[in-house]
Amino acid sequence: MKEVIVAENLTKEYFKSFKYKKEGLTKEVTVALDGISFKIYDGEFISIMGPSGSGKSTFVNLISTIDSPTKGKIFINGKRTSGLSETALSKLRSETIGFVFQDFNLIDNLTISENISVPLKLSGISLKEIKERISDISEKLNISEILEKYPAECSGGQIQRCAIARALINNPKVIIADEPTGNLDSVNSKIILNIFKELNEKFGITILIVTHDPLTASYSKKTINIIDGKIEKSIERKDLSQREYFDKILNLVSGEIDI
Ligand SMILES: Nc1ncnc2c1ncn2[C@@H]1O[C@H](COP(=O)(O)OP(=O)(O)O)[C@@H](O)[C@H]1O
Ligand SMILES: [Mg+2]
Repeated sequence: MKEVIVAENLTKEYFKSFKYKKEGLTKEVTVALDGISFKIYDGEFISIMGPSGSGKSTFVNLISTIDSPTKGKIFINGKRTSGLSETALSKLRSETIGFVFQDFNLIDNLTISENISVPLKLSGISLKEIKERISDISEKLNISEILEKYPAECSGGQIQRCAIARALINNPKVIIADEPTGNLDSVNSKIILNIFKELNEKFGITILIVTHDPLTASYSKKTINIIDGKIEKSIERKDLSQREYFDKILNLVSGEIDI
């Protein structure tokens, strides 16, 4: 299998504040990621679990080049990201990765159709092709009816499907989604998770979702658990049923309970 994203020894430190102590000014450092190495292969469907504050968002922000590491290397499609110019990096990113933000991040005064086409604005693609792609993707995600509406006129589930459509518009190899069902009820969560499953199984798109919900994770083929900025463990579904895999995930995360 081909590697799509490779992370080597990723470390991210945040310098929180400066405190004046007897010995002078000292920096207060938060180590959000503590040397994570991880490979994402073409066609995988991975969920990233872990308690709040364990570094999940930091990890996906680094591997999607939204943020940069303090130490370590990232390779996307075999290219090391740190040596690239901003233009080359944004080209590589938009060709490879579609990102779905936790809070959707749609632009309020653009229609759904305009929101979906935002990533294409600088790509030089013809208006005709933009229209074709939007119509194709919105059919796939069942949002054709709301294309001319504004986000405020749509439900949470519709808005999330629009955010996924926007992430798909450049035909990326990988979709990375940070808590994609975090703000949705169970019916809409199920719809979104089945969309990810279909994108993975039917269209071969690699999927990486962050979640703290074992049921959400049970839709994936592999679950990794991040604790205190480190990958604690990873498990694979293989030929388990979804229920058996769900139990295995519960077991994985119940290690966090102190009893
Ligand atoms: N911009 C930031 N500045 C300072 N600290 C941050 C920042 N972003 C995250 N952190 C800290 O890094 C750690 C990991 O955060 P995060 O990756 O958001 O965790 P998760 O997504 O698993 O909840 C937390 O301790 C958080 O407070
Ligand atoms: Mg987070």
